[in-house]
Amino acid sequence: MDLNTNIVSTPPTIVVIFGASGDLTARKLAPAIFNLSMDSLLPSHCYLIGYGRKEISDDEFREYIRSSIGKHSRRKITEKVWNSLKDNLSFHAGSYDNIEDFNSLNSRIEAMENALNQGVQCLFYISTPPSVFKAILENLGTSGLAKRHRNTQIESKVIIEKPFGRDLKSANELNAVINRRFSETQVFRIDHYLGKETVQSLLVQRFANSIFEPIWNRNYVSSVQITVSENLGVGSRGGYYDRSGALRDMIQNHVMQLLALTAMEPPSSLDPESIRNEKVKALQALKPLVLNGSNAEIVRGVYSEGLIDGEKVIGYFQEEGIPDDSNTETFSALCLHMENWRWKGVPFYLRSGKRLAMKASEIVVQFKRPPEILFGKDSKYSVSPNLLVIRIQPNEGITLYLNSKTPGLETKLQPIELAFGYETTFGSNTPEAYERLILDALNGDGTLFIRGDEAETSWSLLTPVLDFWQEQGRNELESYTAGTWGPVCADKLLLSRGHEWLTGTKF
Ligand code: BG6
Repeated sequence: MDLNTNIVSTPPTIVVIFGASGDLTARKLAPAIFNLSMDSLLPSHCYLIGYGRKEISDDEFREYIRSSIGKHSRRKITEKVWNSLKDNLSFHAGSYDNIEDFNSLNSRIEAMENALNQGVQCLFYISTPPSVFKAILENLGTSGLAKRHRNTQIESKVIIEKPFGRDLKSANELNAVINRRFSETQVFRIDHYLGKETVQSLLVQRFANSIFEPIWNRNYVSSVQITVSENLGVGSRGGYYDRSGALRDMIQNHVMQLLALTAMEPPSSLDPESIRNEKVKALQALKPLVLNGSNAEIVRGVYSEGLIDGEKVIGYFQEEGIPDDSNTETFSALCLHMENWRWKGVPFYLRSGKRLAMKASEIVVQFKRPPEILFGKDSKYSVSPNLLVIRIQPNEGITLYLNSKTPGLETKLQPIELAFGYETTFGSNTPEAYERLILDALNGDGTLFIRGDEAETSWSLLTPVLDFWQEQGRNELESYTAGTWGPVCADKLLLSRGHEWLTGTKF
């Protein structure tokens, strides 16, 4: 991985977005392409073909992209950059399961190539509902688009949006299609959390500082907590969300990726495969979860009506598109253990949910207390455990909590913060995750993408949970009031193990 911003020296490129009239294109992909263009990071000849089922003219598509950039870009649209982009945008109407439509896309690309008089690189971005992922991948194969590079020597690439499967079996099936049609180096499975500036920075913080490595293990760490909470509800995505739930939507991918980056061994190089090998090894070391009984290691909940920012919000079962008999969880918390030398005995507590007290993505490493000889439990001085808090979003930064003496003639202890904030140090306006990820895919750098075996390892841990919950129906699906930190069972999960959740509490 090149951690520097890389100036693309790629050949002329055609980006095809499947699902071009969808929400993701409007909110993330179009603004990302615009911002890359603004920073002159796109190849000098870069064309965007929107692919979708609706018949839209090229001009209508241009208008749609322009207004999406206007609404969602982190930087204002400028006429200069827009004019350089707009003529390179076009739309190709087609269905996802009709090979003829892919053949005509192929001919269109060939015509563009002929006009340029040189071979182009193709980047196919699959941003459709997951139900058509397989059909698209198969048709990219059958039409020859997947292997266009046989003629041009420039490898085609495919970005696949999440969710990558809905359990182990479906992820295996998707990987089987991919392996038949593409080579792994052509495939970029997205987890947009990996494109976040702070997540990339985690590698730097862990491995470019020598002070962490000696204490980053079971001898010094008493627990690790990862919270990815949102205060939003499911909004208009009820139909999708009810087939997904917190475990599939957030934990299997985003939260497990944060866990892998926190727990993995130092890779031998920044090469994508070295990094991904270490992440897979960390995930493989996770012990299967205890699913029920008094020692259960995973709990779930669903939000009921409550207050968010002082405003009344409805419960999950009242949201649009949620069936009356839904047993989908909007919150889950779990306690994982790693069976390896570094982490044996250290609990990793993970939680994620919708309609929680605040939006926060945080990793908290809690260190063991010092021996209670001078300061501690039985003395009059209370000692808080040291904490390293890595804030992924918002207020991105790192805070180390230490104990210090308060000023005065009496000896009193108080936790103090050594804090670093991204915005204070570097200013705002950092690139969006999708900018980084699209740029890396164009450069063929897979470091910040999920490898096939990585997705499968994560699913193999969580699929038994999904099966168990399916059998359970609504049993032990505990409700929590919107605007709180989740169901009581999540607090008990930690309390029974001698810990408490730290994000959202006063350290
Ligand atoms: C997506 C989930 O992957 O991540 C959404 O499908 C969720 O349900 C979103 O809201 C959160 O992303 P972020 O970047 O806002 O934390």
